[in-house]
Amino acid sequence: MADEIIKEGILSFTTKKTSFNIIVLKTVNSTNFYTKELAKNNAPHETLVIADHQTEGRGRLGREFFSPEGSGIYMSILLKPDKIVLPPSLLTVGAGVAVCRVLNSISKSPATIKWVNDIFLHKKKVCGILAESTSNPDKGTISNIIVGIGLNVNTPDNVFPGKLNKIAGSVFPENITRNEITAKIINEFQQIYNADNPQDLIDEYKNYSCVLGKKIHFTKSGKAFSGTAVDINDEGNLIVALDTGETLILKSGEISLGSENFTD
Ligand code: BTN
Repeated sequence: MADEIIKEGILSFTTKKTSFNIIVLKTVNSTNFYTKELAKNNAPHETLVIADHQTEGRGRLGREFFSPEGSGIYMSILLKPDKIVLPPSLLTVGAGVAVCRVLNSISKSPATIKWVNDIFLHKKKVCGILAESTSNPDKGTISNIIVGIGLNVNTPDNVFPGKLNKIAGSVFPENITRNEITAKIINEFQQIYNADNPQDLIDEYKNYSCVLGKKIHFTKSGKAFSGTAVDINDEGNLIVALDTGETLILKSGEISLGSENFTD
């Protein structure tokens, strides 16, 4: 199946009333970088930048996001906080839920989310989300939010370099192009950030979570902690019952699971 990313191809699957301004690039350093530059030049709300290949794809915590050509979806969505209904702090959660809905509609295996934003399918990470914002220096308010989504669609396992080889995987969907998958993600995400029901969103996110009830480990301010992930609060923070008996609210960072099994 021809699988070139094309603006008209994406638009043919988006909901009819979509107002997305879509920019398709063959190669870019990072769609998040590119979109931030566009934002500085007053690009409108709902600008979507999507690339076939990134030379400097970025993940959270300064990591690289491996982005080979021809096989993934690397996209950034520019949103203006005053034009969305969902609290901006829940956009990462919203994007994760949007991707899980789409993966569950095109894949036989269930998609799960490892807090906060890693999406797993058949025990491999297939998607990462990096939300960034720019502020208005005069007012000290957030002026733009850039939600970056990287999804490995058809990247063969043996292409992932080094340690990634054990962790990363692809969706390998049947009979669906990257254009249609992209449109489906946009459709779901748009519906999520235009809706006024954050509690339903958190509940759905919790249903996809592969960490709740599990033993986890993490470091915070250089100190190692162990405990059980017991809940996700209204702000998308992880509530951890520490082995010491205390409760800790984790707002950011990275956790590792006590076991390697991400799906059950
Ligand atoms: C992570 O796994 O830590 C987040 C990865 C986010 C990757 C996407 S790909 C599109 C956008 N551009 C980037 O440079 N990063 C995000």
